[in-house]
Amino acid sequence: MFVVVGVTGGIAAYKTVHLVRALVTNGHEVHVVPTADSLRFVGTTTWEAVSRNPVTTSVHDDVSRVRHVALGTSADLVVIAPATANTLAKMAAGIADDLLGVTLLATTAPVVVAPAMHTAMWEHAATQANIATLRSRGVHVVDPADGPLTGGDSGPGRMREPEEIVAAALAVAAGHPSDLAGRRIAVSTGGTREPIDPVRFLGNRSSGRQGAELAVAAAARGAEVTLVAAHVDEGVLTAASRHPRIAVVRVGTTAELQAAMTDAAATADVVAMVAAVADFRVAEVSHHKLRKEDGAPRLDLVPNPDILAGLVAARRPGQIVIGFAAETAADDTELLERGRRKRERKGVDLLAVNRVDWEHGFEATENRVLLLDAAGAVVAEAAGSKRAVADAIWDAVAVVR
Ligand code: C5P
Repeated sequence: MFVVVGVTGGIAAYKTVHLVRALVTNGHEVHVVPTADSLRFVGTTTWEAVSRNPVTTSVHDDVSRVRHVALGTSADLVVIAPATANTLAKMAAGIADDLLGVTLLATTAPVVVAPAMHTAMWEHAATQANIATLRSRGVHVVDPADGPLTGGDSGPGRMREPEEIVAAALAVAAGHPSDLAGRRIAVSTGGTREPIDPVRFLGNRSSGRQGAELAVAAAARGAEVTLVAAHVDEGVLTAASRHPRIAVVRVGTTAELQAAMTDAAATADVVAMVAAVADFRVAEVSHHKLRKEDGAPRLDLVPNPDILAGLVAARRPGQIVIGFAAETAADDTELLERGRRKRERKGVDLLAVNRVDWEHGFEATENRVLLLDAAGAVVAEAAGSKRAVADAIWDAVAVVR
């Protein structure tokens, strides 16, 4: 692929050296277009060495081959990293007073920007309005991360790591939506198993398919996913475990699932509790196999913690928490009524409600969910394959954030 990498004047430009190297290593033809100001941070020699191509900054170089237009029209993908507030403003206004500006106007290729700036500048109404304008024109924004900034401050504004930007940009070029690029997502799936004795357990019919599809769909849209999987059906985790941006963590009991999800949620932007969690566990697990000769056993059950409630209580600022509710209901009215009450009780940002009975919901490959937002309104109704339902859920997340 012919990739134009625009570099603008921020200290994060040093990280873009790794980004260019990664693209070249992956076999792409990379042309770096630095702005004049960015050359104070990283010079032409470095860009020529890592990209293995000549670097020009002026519209007046190589005029006979109309290089300023040629770069834009040849590009299959344009990545701007770091993108300063100034460059974003110029892009929004269509200003073309240097080679990068001209290239951007001449191209019809997908454009991915990775902003980097001080938090106050990122949060300024002007920058946010420019970002909104660029998004509305189809520019893909790899949202900056929250973390330490140059000068000792901390907050949103840090450029994402080169490998995250490369993954997002390649996903965009492959035609996938990348609206979750750079997002960290924790998903739980499957059914927990509570031991009775060394060979028996209390379990449920969850196949884990919907949660696995959510993980794969999120990763395809650019997210970094931790998939905490309790018991799942054969083959359900195959695609997820092969995906480079999904880390699968296997668990058995509710307590293990709680520990793994609490851990993953600590750095996640979105948390989805899809797992069918056992509400009760056996009070005293027998350490030897219960024997028939001893008569029918009496099992004393104690409640398990509500993991979702704990995650909601520990929610980080800006974090979105999604719950699932599988309900038996006579019709949609009853289903929605139960869903709304549950949303209220759980305090989640989104609740995916689905009707289950002996045939529907669990184990099936198809699903139908109603998505309730924090106000109890139905924001989406999704039916079809569990992958289609997963994408509908991520579409809704993209809107609420
Ligand atoms: O209350 P109910 O079990 O129907 O709520 C379902 C939602 O709560 C699901 O998102 C499920 O993963 C979560 N849950 C939980 N901990 C429990 C029970 C359910 O996190 N002990």
